[in-house]
Amino acid sequence: VVYFALTAPVPKEPGELVYCTTIIHPGRVGDEYFMTRGHHHVLDSGEVYLGLSGDGLMVMQTRDQVVRTAPLSTSTVVYVPPGWAHRTVNTGERDLVFLAVYAGDAGHDYASVDRDGFTVRVIAGASGPHVIATGPVTRTRSASGTASPG
Ligand SMILES: [Fe+2]
Repeated sequence: VVYFALTAPVPKEPGELVYCTTIIHPGRVGDEYFMTRGHHHVLDSGEVYLGLSGDGLMVMQTRDQVVRTAPLSTSTVVYVPPGWAHRTVNTGERDLVFLAVYAGDAGHDYASVDRDGFTVRVIAGASGPHVIATGPVTRTRSASGTASPG
């Protein structure tokens, strides 16, 4: 098991906020860091992530393949806007632990990510993690904090 999530027993209904702690172990498959599967929300809605320990990266991608990444480390907040698929990657050498909060009725669509994939991969390079394109990327940029996409 590369990662696991502990989800609070909050009703998955409108108005509720589900909160979930995820732990991704460190490691790689080849040169690609361990990561979560990634998903869209069924109802386009945002999500807030708070890094609790470790070092990683959030990869976000719209349905028309605009990509952005944001550091997710201890005490870092990442906001995933509505309509962006999201996946977390452990680029460090310890467990990456983070808290995520999302709308109770958001729903999770893993199938579209399984089908379409992300158009970038996060791999280990000589000087640290690198984000490389594996498909057509409209735009790649890094962001941190609570910046929202243009
Ligand atoms: Fe999510």
